[in-house]
Amino acid sequence: MPDQLIVCKSCGFSVNEDKRNDETGGAHLLKHLETLYDQWPRKAELTLEATGCLCICDQPCAIAYVGTGKPTYLFADLDPTTCAADLLTAAELYLDSNDGMVSAYKLPPELQTRRIARIPPAP
Ligand code: FES
Repeated sequence: MPDQLIVCKSCGFSVNEDKRNDETGGAHLLKHLETLYDQWPRKAELTLEATGCLCICDQPCAIAYVGTGKPTYLFADLDPTTCAADLLTAAELYLDSNDGMVSAYKLPPELQTRRIARIPPAP
């Protein structure tokens, strides 16, 4: 089963700005990601998914990486206008790690302080 990058499509652009031009920050991010994902050579290894909420609504935008036998990573406080390419770079690191462990210093600089949780896989 491929790993997943899950985007909260309901998140705002920031704590103080839910929508721009009637579009949520999460929807904006998802659209940008889909554009890059179309040309991404590793599509077979990771699916792009959307969800209604990741329960971290006070820190938009939020996304998660999920993989079988790998920890789940939650990222928040992302700028939906600029982070899409970095998220795919981080996805490649996640894919390249057999156990899913990715050191923060290896992440794109803008993401290094945005990772807020690592949840161990089910045994
Ligand atoms: S609205 Fe995005 S985490 Fe809840």
